[in-house]
Amino acid sequence: LELQMNLEEIEKGGYDHFMLKEIYEQPRAIKDTYRGRLLADQGLIRMAGIDLNMEKFLNANRIIIVACGTSWHAGLVAEYIFEDLARIPVEVEYASEFRYRNPVITDKDVLIAISQSGETADTLAAIKLAKEKGAFVFGVCNVVGSSIARESDAGAYTHAGPEIGVASTKAFTTQITVLTLMALKLAKAKGVFSESRYHEYLCELETIPGKVEKSLESNTLIEIIADVYKDSTNCLYLGRGYNFPVALEGALKLKEISYIHAEGYPAAEMKHGPIALIDEHMPVFVIATKKGHYEKVVSNIQEIKSRKGKIIAIVTEGDEQVKDLADHVIEVPETLESLTPLLTTIPLQLISYHIAVMRGCNVDQPRNLAKSVTVE
Ligand code: AGP
Repeated sequence: LELQMNLEEIEKGGYDHFMLKEIYEQPRAIKDTYRGRLLADQGLIRMAGIDLNMEKFLNANRIIIVACGTSWHAGLVAEYIFEDLARIPVEVEYASEFRYRNPVITDKDVLIAISQSGETADTLAAIKLAKEKGAFVFGVCNVVGSSIARESDAGAYTHAGPEIGVASTKAFTTQITVLTLMALKLAKAKGVFSESRYHEYLCELETIPGKVEKSLESNTLIEIIADVYKDSTNCLYLGRGYNFPVALEGALKLKEISYIHAEGYPAAEMKHGPIALIDEHMPVFVIATKKGHYEKVVSNIQEIKSRKGKIIAIVTEGDEQVKDLADHVIEVPETLESLTPLLTTIPLQLISYHIAVMRGCNVDQPRNLAKSVTVE
């Protein structure tokens, strides 16, 4: 048992939990994801799975993304990226719903399956259904040789390295990295992007690992904030645009490792009911970075504040306006709007981690959960 304990300590690399280690591995994991693919100085993105099937993507009626859990949230981010940058219609489906709703699928559809483990039963079933109906299937997996990787017609591995913590962290950010590379490559192939805009994106992507590193530096502040809210019974997460899926992901992280009920919402939806929930006992995490509807998010924050809600805002470093409104602000570096999810998710991963540890929860193996849901 002693040896087993020591082995596990070595595997955790000095971190208290695998989840924390994997949160801190993200700068390196993102670099590993784009290594050999992102060739900014040559103005190139090299992805064999796309290059060999470019016509399928360019002639597709639409892209259907199927996934579960955190991978489904990565799919939602991809919907914003593919439509905004590559102008390709995208719909994102829960694999478990898609496989049973008798969906309309044709051979003009491209299906992207996102799965860290590559073994999720519902996602695998969705792929098989789509292939039966003639769709082209592209897999984005982390585990090499996994069932979903093998079942796909083509694909791209995230190369995040083994993710041991049940709660996905580096899988999410590396999935978004792969999907961003795909969307940029397709945008260029479609001629939607000028050389200069393309080059701007490639160069900015290269700065992301360093900006994730910078975002991780808020860990001490985040631990202090976690202590204030660790006994909450409910939390709300709000975001707009690219950061709406990040709000959903932040809520899922808190739910699955600290067992606090949490819900993610598009910030503008508050007026349509949820604002009735707001009082001084309701912490609201708001992603309010500078790019993308910033002023509208600020007015959402004001609406919450006037109802005594507690506000923890994720802001762009140097932000002064939100600082005067929120109870706490956590800064992330500035980046392009479509790349903000890679940074804004970091504080939300850490806040969930610290709250869960303070509540004495089993962070790496939360109750009732499995790392890969290989059964329905
Ligand atoms: C996320 O933290 C959970 N571990 C879970 O929602 C997970 O994302 C989901 O089960 C999908 O797993 P996959 O990516 O391996 O398919």
